Amino acid sequence: MLRIGLLTSGGDCQALNATMRGVVKSLFNNMENLEIYGFMYGYKGLIYGDYRMLSDSDFSGILTRGGTILGTSRQAFKQIKEPDENGVDKVEAMIQTYQNLELDCLVILGGNGSQKTANLLREEGLNILHLPKTIDNDIWGTDLTFGFYSAVNIATEAIDCIHTTASSHQRVFIVEIMGNRAGWLTLYAGIAGGADIILIPEIPYNIDRVVEAINRRKERGSGFTILAVAEGALSEMEASLPKKERKKELEARAKKYPSVSYKIAEEIEQITGMEIRVTVPGHTQRGGSPCPYDRVLSTRIGSEAAKLIMRNEFGYMVGIVNGKVKKIPLDRCAGRLKKVSADAQEVQDAKRMGISFGD
Ligand code: F6P
Repeated sequence: MLRIGLLTSGGDCQALNATMRGVVKSLFNNMENLEIYGFMYGYKGLIYGDYRMLSDSDFSGILTRGGTILGTSRQAFKQIKEPDENGVDKVEAMIQTYQNLELDCLVILGGNGSQKTANLLREEGLNILHLPKTIDNDIWGTDLTFGFYSAVNIATEAIDCIHTTASSHQRVFIVEIMGNRAGWLTLYAGIAGGADIILIPEIPYNIDRVVEAINRRKERGSGFTILAVAEGALSEMEASLPKKERKKELEARAKKYPSVSYKIAEEIEQITGMEIRVTVPGHTQRGGSPCPYDRVLSTRIGSEAAKLIMRNEFGYMVGIVNGKVKKIPLDRCAGRLKKVSADAQEVQDAKRMGISFGD
């Protein structure tokens, strides 16, 4: 008898169900005597023993379904070693649940923070596989995370819609795209949507350079401009501050503006006298069905995870590198963030054709 635990942790994204389906269908198709335990709402389910036994049929018809059939929650890694409000040792409780159910392994679908907890459980001796999900695409060691391209599609569509109205009214629009620490989603949606200015956390912006880019377009006869701005975009001043001071500065900013785009809009308005409109697609970027690319990626990652389970190989993240699905040791990737570098080819290609990054 093989007993597998499954959980989805952190912010959701579009292809979580598709990935779990890939794991479970591959297992059921290749072996008998299998029990699947689905933990509810991420690590919470593992800590408090909240699980459901699942069968093959639970994974039918979910390839196209967004969200996660297991539910999810955020459990900050920083607090995972601290006892809960009732004094429960969370790490100990997770190990206990695993042992009580006599699990042979635990498959964790999650982002950066969840990956750190996955690695901690590996260090504690549990058999772990981590499958990289996030619309942010910021997990080190894999070229892509599932969820990313589905979110790129939605964010691009938002920019496309803004394009037509911006052009009719000859207005300047900011479309704010998710991504607090990494700008992949803004970069890809910005390029795909034909944004004129792309501001991402990794390349601090100077508002004068942003205004110059808007004016340059005007001089060339384009009265409208689209800015794709990451929710974590930073000005040169903010980026230059030591960590603690920057935190304070951003807290003060959050008190004054609903998000960074409103601050940038105000700054542009003050310099140019133009009226700027802001659109925030927000969590729509994480919702709905996975795009076909993500369905394929998830199925491949899930199927490879099943292969590792059948071979008794644990302690890995299953990612994709140069088009090939690969296992990457968890201790190599945990705690590392994959950011856009200022000299990334995508950035250089975009700059060459006139897209401004505000730098
Ligand atoms: O999961 C990634 C993400 O969508 C980020 O892009 C964003 O910064 C964050 O989660 C939003 O988190 P929450 O859903 O908790 O508001």
